Amino acid sequence: MQPSYGAEYRTSNPAPLHPDPLVDTIKLMTRVLWLGLWIAGLSLLAVPAPAQTLVERGKYLVERVAHCGDCHTPPDSKGKPDTTRLLKGVKTQYMTTPDITSAGPLWLSWKDEGILRFLETHNTPSGGTSKHPMPPYKLRPDDAGAIVAYLKTLK
Ligand code: HEC
Repeated sequence: MQPSYGAEYRTSNPAPLHPDPLVDTIKLMTRVLWLGLWIAGLSLLAVPAPAQTLVERGKYLVERVAHCGDCHTPPDSKGKPDTTRLLKGVKTQYMTTPDITSAGPLWLSWKDEGILRFLETHNTPSGGTSKHPMPPYKLRPDDAGAIVAYLKTLK
């Protein structure tokens, strides 16, 4: 004989006949709270990150992306980059690089415009290009501008 589950179906988990209004209110408040948090989260995303100044961006590109200092900062007595002479040019038996700070002779003759154009096009003001191992950068104008802004803070 087939067992019949009909009776159990009818009696298990009966829907509450009189829903508790307090429980409903708490559920609603929880939903409203979540919605609020969600909207607050969205508005956090919309707030821009603290703005990076042009000089900060240039410093980041020079130090972290292009590593200009690997070739343009002279080593100290221990062979580490001399942080008191950042980008002041190197003269060793292996490599000679110019001082690329705004106090160097290069800057005096090329001016901001010349350095900027060089970083954007790899063309020097006299129409040439630089020699290996100077990388043949063709930077975006905003990146080149940021680098020039940073180099101008170095003496
Ligand atoms: C791998 C080594 C190396 C790196 C990295 C490097 N340079 Fe140079 N740079 C040189 C050398 C070598 C020269 C000299 C080239 C020459 O005499 O033609 C030079 C020359 C220059 C010049 C003068 C160009 C000329 O023809 O006289 C400028 C300006 C310059 N570098 C800027 C930079 C900047 C800015 C960065 C980073 C964004 C950088 N360099 C990264 C090696 C490097």
